[in-house]
Amino acid sequence: MAAAVLAAVLVAVLLLLARGGPAAADGADMEFLFTGFAPGNVTTTGAAVVTSSGLLQLTNETNEVFGHGFYPVPVRFRDASTGAPISFSTTFVVAIVPRHDDAHGHGIAFALAPSITVPGAVAGKNLGLFNTLDNMGQIRSEVVAVELDTAMDTEFSDINDNHVGIDVNSLVSMKSAPAAYVNVGTASLINFSLVSGNLHQVWVEYDGASMRLEVTVVSPAGKPRPAVPLVSYTVNLSAAVADDTYIGFSGANGAASSSHYVLGWSFSLGGGRAPDLDLSKLPSIPSLRTKKTMPQLLIIIMFLVAVLVLLLVSGAVAVLVIRRRRFAEEQEDWEIGYGPHRISYKDLHAATRGFRDVIGAGGFGRVYHGVLPRSGTEVAVKKVSHESRQGLREFVSEIASMSRLRHRNLVQLLGYCRRRGELILVYDYMVNGSLDNHLFDADRPALSWEQRVKIVRDVAAGLLYLHEGWEQVVVHRDIKASNVLLDADMNGKLSDFGLARLYDHGSNPQTTHVIGTLGYLAPEMSKTGKATTSTDVFAFGAFLLEVACGRRPMERNDDLDSPGLVDLVLECWKAGRIMDAKDPKIGKCDEDDLELVLKLGLLCSHPDPRSRPSMRQVVKILEGAEAVPETPPKDLGSNNRLFYGYIDSFDEFATIFPTSETTVTTQPSSSHSNDELISG
Ligand SMILES: *[C@@H]1O[C@H](CO)[C@@H](O)[C@H](O)[C@H]1NC(C)=O
Ligand SMILES: *[C@@H]1O[C@H](CO)[C@@H](O)[C@H](O)[C@H]1NC(C)=O
Ligand SMILES: *[C@@H]1O[C@H](CO)[C@@H](O)[C@H](O)[C@H]1NC(C)=O
Ligand SMILES: *[C@@H]1O[C@H](CO)[C@@H](O)[C@H](O)[C@H]1NC(C)=O
Repeated sequence: MAAAVLAAVLVAVLLLLARGGPAAADGADMEFLFTGFAPGNVTTTGAAVVTSSGLLQLTNETNEVFGHGFYPVPVRFRDASTGAPISFSTTFVVAIVPRHDDAHGHGIAFALAPSITVPGAVAGKNLGLFNTLDNMGQIRSEVVAVELDTAMDTEFSDINDNHVGIDVNSLVSMKSAPAAYVNVGTASLINFSLVSGNLHQVWVEYDGASMRLEVTVVSPAGKPRPAVPLVSYTVNLSAAVADDTYIGFSGANGAASSSHYVLGWSFSLGGGRAPDLDLSKLPSIPSLRTKKTMPQLLIIIMFLVAVLVLLLVSGAVAVLVIRRRRFAEEQEDWEIGYGPHRISYKDLHAATRGFRDVIGAGGFGRVYHGVLPRSGTEVAVKKVSHESRQGLREFVSEIASMSRLRHRNLVQLLGYCRRRGELILVYDYMVNGSLDNHLFDADRPALSWEQRVKIVRDVAAGLLYLHEGWEQVVVHRDIKASNVLLDADMNGKLSDFGLARLYDHGSNPQTTHVIGTLGYLAPEMSKTGKATTSTDVFAFGAFLLEVACGRRPMERNDDLDSPGLVDLVLECWKAGRIMDAKDPKIGKCDEDDLELVLKLGLLCSHPDPRSRPSMRQVVKILEGAEAVPETPPKDLGSNNRLFYGYIDSFDEFATIFPTSETTVTTQPSSSHSNDELISG
C-alpha cells in the first residue's frame, strides 16, 4: 500500500519534471525591463553573449554566425478561454557596428519563436530564425519577426539593404520600408542607416483586438518617438505563433560581418505599454569607443611620424649645413677663369685626412702632407692665412699663371683653394724636405760637396728660368735654403716663388713693406722697397755662402753689430785663406769648385745692385764658362749693417712670422724694439 502511494508520488514528481522548464506566462501581468543585461536575464545561444558591460551581443565580427538572446520564460499570445490574440508592447535599443564601412552582416530581428534554439536555423540571410526549408513559408515555422535587415536579398524580395520589415512565417516580408523616421518637429521623413553604429530605438506594438502589429523606429535613439509607425501589418498572432512562444533577438552575419548589440529592452503583455527605457543608463558599445579612438590613435601615430620625419629632415639639413660650412669656400666671378687650378676644399680635406699630417711650418703657414684621391699623387698642401682681400685677386691670377710655370727646378704648383681668411696652395710633394734641414740638422748625414754643388746649380737654373725663361719676369723674393726642396734624387727645387707678393700689397700704399728674410735682404730694398731680379741675386749670394759655409747668413742670436757671413768670408778672402770659410762638415772636395762658389756668393752679395751679376752670368760662372775676379771687388761687405742702420734710423720694426726662419716685413711703428726684430 505504502509502496503504491510512494510510487504514485514518484510518478507525479517525474511527470512534473518531465513537463520541465518554467511555466508559460499568461494573463495580463507579464512585464520586464532590462537597462543593460545580466547573465541569466536572457538565454543566449550561438555566437551571442552577455558582455561584462551589460550588452547583449548577438554576434561579434565573425562571418557566417548567428546568435540568439531569448527571454527564458515563454509567453502565451492566445487567450486561453476565447482563443483571441493578446496585446503586447515592447521597446528596445539596438546598434549594428559593421566591421567594414562597405560590407556588413545581415541584421537584427526581434522574434517570436517556438523555441530558444530555433531548429535548423541558418545564419546569413536566414537571420538565424529560419532554415532553408521554411524560409519562404513552405512549412509553418511559427515564427513572427520584426527585421532590421541590412542586406538585400532579392530571393526574399528585399527592397534594399537598409530596411525594416515584418515577417510572418517567411523571410519574404509582409510589409517593409526603408529605415526612416518622421521628424516630430518638421514632419519630414528622415532616412537613416541601420549600420551607422548609432543606437536605434524600436517600438513594436500589437493590439489583440485589431490584430495590428505596428513598428516604429527612431535613430539615433533619444529623438522623440514619431507618432506614426514606419510599418504595420495585421496578423492573427493566435494562429501565427505557438502556444508557448519565446521572445527575444537574433542577429546574423554572412560573408561579411557586423557586431549586433541589444542594449536595453522592456516588454509588457496584455495591453499595457512597455516601460520606458532610461537611455542614459544603457551600457555603451565598445566598438563605438574604439571607432573613436582608432582615428585618435591614427592621429597620434601620424603626429609622431610627422615629428620623426621633421626631426630627420632637420637633422639632415643640419648635417648639410655643417658640411657646407665645413667645406665652404670663397669664389668670386673673377676666379672662374682659373677654374682648372681650383681644387675643392672637400677634396683637400679628404686628401690630407682632415689636415692632420703636418710636414712643415713655412714662412706663411703650415704645410700638410696629402694624397689626391683621384690621381693618388702625393702633394704638399700649404695653408696661407690672408686677412686682407686686397691684392688677393692679383695674387690668385698670378698663382693661376704660375701654375703654368714648369721647370724641373721649380716645385710645381698644382692648384689652389680659397676660403675665408685662408688660401690653400697645393704643390708637388718633395720627399727629402727642405735643404736647410740637411744643412743644419746635426742628426742628418752631412751633404757631400758634390751634392751641394748640384743643388746650387739646380737652384740657379730654376731662378734663371723665373727671371728670363718665361714670358714675364718673375721675382722669387724669398730665396733661402729653407725654400729649396729636395726630391727623392736630391735634386734641388725652388718653392714658394711669388708667395711673398701676397704680403706686398699693403693697405696703405705710402708704407713700404719689405718682404724677405733677414740676411737675404738686399740693402737697396730699404730705400726702394722694391723686389727685383737683382735683389733675388743678392739673396742667392747669401744662399751660396750658406751652402758652402754651413752657416746661416745671420745667426738668430747674432748681435746686430757682429759681422755677417759675408764679412767673415770676405775677410778670409782678403787674408788669402778663403778655404777657411768652408763648412767643416764637407770632407774632401774640389777646392777650386768650392772657392768659385764662395767668391760667386760674395759677388752676388755686393751692396751695389749694379755690381751684381745677372742670373744668366751666375749660371755661366757655375758652369765654368765665365770666370770670377781673382781679387775681392771694391765696396763689398757690411751690407747687413747697412740694412739694420736703416731700420734703426727710421725706427722701423719687423713683423716676425711664426717660422724657423726670420721672414720680416717692415712697417713704421714706435712700439716695437729691435730686440723683437730678431727674437723670432
Ligand atoms: C537580471 O539579472 C540580475 C542578476 O541576476 C537580476 O538582479 C535582475 O533582477 C534581473 N533583471 C530582470 C528584469 O529579471
Ligand atoms: C567571436 O565569437 C566567436 C564565437 O562566440 C569566438 O569564437 C570568437 O573568438 C569571437 N571573436 C572575437 C574577435 O571576439
Ligand atoms: C530616403 O530613402 C528613400 C529610399 O531609399 C528615397 O527614395 C528617398 O529619396 C530618401 N529621402 C531622403 C530625404 O534622402
Ligand atoms: C485567430 O486565430 C485563431 C486560431 O486559429 C482563431 O481561433 C480566431 O478565430 C482567429 N481570430 C480571428 C479574428 O480571425
